[in-house]
Amino acid sequence: MESEVKLAAGAMVTLALATAALVVMPYIQVRDIPKPPALKPYTDAQLRGRDVYVSNGCVYCHSQQPRTREFGPDFERGWGRASVPGDYFFDKPHLLGSMRTGPDLFNIGARQPSKDWQLGHLFQPRAYTPGSNMPAYPFLFYIKDAAEPGEEVLNLPPGYAPSGKVVVPRPEALDLVTYLIGMDHTYPILPPLPEPEAQDANKPEAGVGGSDATPKAEAGRPAEVPPKSESVSKPDPKPQS
Ligand code: HEC
Repeated sequence: MESEVKLAAGAMVTLALATAALVVMPYIQVRDIPKPPALKPYTDAQLRGRDVYVSNGCVYCHSQQPRTREFGPDFERGWGRASVPGDYFFDKPHLLGSMRTGPDLFNIGARQPSKDWQLGHLFQPRAYTPGSNMPAYPFLFYIKDAAEPGEEVLNLPPGYAPSGKVVVPRPEALDLVTYLIGMDHTYPILPPLPEPEAQDANKPEAGVGGSDATPKAEAGRPAEVPPKSESVSKPDPKPQS
């Protein structure tokens, strides 16, 4: 009997430790991350395009997380600086991905901003990258005899357009490409918070965990408060003359 109690207690402790290490601590680490000032929210078209990205399984072959130099030569591959948690501020759910059958797409909008290229590449990747093993997505396009007024026709490399027909992107393809071209995280990220000593003086306990949540709200949002104009207008406490 005694050993059964020990077994159950050991199992509970193990589970509690695992939950703390894998769920609670990561949550506390990233919940108050501010958004980089240059990061813009998704537009409606980009959000629709993001759904097309998810439903077509792009994430199974493409990551969205350039890594640091210690992990690999992502920067040398032209995929951009290593991503930081704030870059994913508007990503719910995130699409980090873990497979890299194709290149990382975190900065594809900066690398390949041509709408024509992106649309044509979705219609037939091998028309642009010979030997590519990315699947073609012809069902995101209409193949018609002639375009109707106002419709854009794809300019495919010679030999890839269906003969006597025109290829016109469906709204899903246009939204997806709007999402891809919007994927540009090349802005500079925030430097580390200034003057950590001054902050420590105000908050005796480091604000990690615990139930006294009052000082945390301030700590999490340093970037949203523009302190400059305020502090300039305040009278200097020191006597000046
Ligand atoms: C089976 C794996 C696979 C899937 C699924 C896949 N891709 Fe790709 N993708 C690749 C490979 C491999 C390449 C590199 C060769 C090329 O350019 O075609 C690539 C290249 C790309 C590029 C060009 C990247 C660059 O740096 O030039 C874009 C953009 C892209 N894919 C978008 C998508 C989108 C959007 C989807 C979903 C609709 C998707 N891919 C689905 C494998 C895949």
